[in-house]
Amino acid sequence: MKRIGILTGGGDCPGLNAVIRGVVKGAVIQRGWEVIGIEDGFDGLLDRGKCRLLTLDDVRGILPRGGTILGSTNRGNPFSFPIEKDGKTVFIDISDQVVGTLKELGVEALVVVGGDGSLKIAQELIRKGVPIVAVPKTIDNDLMETDVTFGYNTALETATDALDKLHSTAESHHRVMILEVMGRYAGWIALESGIAGGADVILIPEIPFEIKRICRAVDDRRRRGRRFSIIVAAEGAFPRGGERVVRKKAEAAHQIERLGGIGEYVAREIGTCLDMDTRVTVLGHLQRGGSPTTFDRCLGSRFGIKALELIEKGAFGQMVCLKGRDIRSAPIEKAVRKLKLVNPGGDMVRAAEELGIMLGR
Ligand code: F6P
Repeated sequence: MKRIGILTGGGDCPGLNAVIRGVVKGAVIQRGWEVIGIEDGFDGLLDRGKCRLLTLDDVRGILPRGGTILGSTNRGNPFSFPIEKDGKTVFIDISDQVVGTLKELGVEALVVVGGDGSLKIAQELIRKGVPIVAVPKTIDNDLMETDVTFGYNTALETATDALDKLHSTAESHHRVMILEVMGRYAGWIALESGIAGGADVILIPEIPFEIKRICRAVDDRRRRGRRFSIIVAAEGAFPRGGERVVRKKAEAAHQIERLGGIGEYVAREIGTCLDMDTRVTVLGHLQRGGSPTTFDRCLGSRFGIKALELIEKGAFGQMVCLKGRDIRSAPIEKAVRKLKLVNPGGDMVRAAEELGIMLGR
C-alpha cells in the first residue's frame, strides 16, 4: 500500500478532524503511506484540484477544532448527480468519473467518513470495485452496528447545557420553555439530553405524543406549585394521529411550514389549553458546531487508526464501530440497512419515565 484517500461526507459534526488527524498520523508516521485528502465529500472526486496530499503539517492543531478541514457537502451523490438541462434539474450517474479520478490519483483504498447517506454511496462504489472502509459519523447517533457515533456526545453536551440555562430563566418567569433539538428521525439527542438536563417532558419520533397529556402534565406541575416546565422536543417528533413532522425531506418542508416546527406547534397548543407563557428555542446547528468533547476526540482518533488497520487487512466493505468499550468493525451493508432508533420499551425510556418525565404517551 502506498497511497490512500480520505473524504468527509454529509453534515459535519465535531470529531471529524480527529479522524482525519488519526488517519494521517497513523498512515504517514507508522506505515509510510501517503494520504490524499478529498475536499467537499464525493464532489471532490469530480475535480482533481480538490484532491491534495495531506501532510503532518496539515493536521497539526486540528484536534480541538469542530467541522472538517476537508469540507463537506450533502449534494454530491455521484449516482444521482444534479445538472441543469433545458432549464430543468436532472439527475445523472457520474460514478465512472469518480472511479476514474481515484485510479488516476493512484488511490489504493478510500476512507469514507460519513452518515447513512454517504455510507450508501460508499456501498455502491464498492460494488463498482472501489476498495472502501467506512467511519460512522453523525450527531444523530442513528447508525446501526455501532453503539455510538462520534459527534453525538458533543451535541448532547450542547443540548444539556442549553437545558441548564433554560431552567433558570423558565423558573424566574414562570414559563414553559420548549427546546427543539436535532436528530432527524431519531430521538437520541432529545432523550439523553432531556434526562441529563432534568426535563419535565421529552418528545421523540419513536413515541407519537398526545398533546392533551402534555398539557395535563404541565398543569399538574403548576398545581403542585411548579410554575414552570421544561420540554425537549426532537425535531422529528409528531403528535399521535397527526402527521409526522419530519419524515422525508420534501414532506417535512411542507409540514414544518404548516406547523411552524414541532417546538412552535407544542408551544401554541400549550398556550391555548393552559394560558401559560411559552417560549421556543430551536437549538439548530449549534449542536453541530464547536470543539469536540474528550469522548469524541478520543473516539474519532481510535476510529481513524482502526480504519487503517482494516485497510492493512484488506477488509474492504467494513465500517469501524464501537461495541462496549472496544473498537471493532461490521459490514457497511448491515450498518445502512435501517436506522438505529430509540426503543420505546427500552431501559432508557423506562428510566426517563420512572424519573417522572412525561414522554407524551
Ligand atoms: O444528520 C445531522 C443533522 O444535523 C440532523 O440532525 C438535521 O436534521 C440535519 O442534519 C440538518 O441538515 P442541514 O445541515 O442540511 O440543515
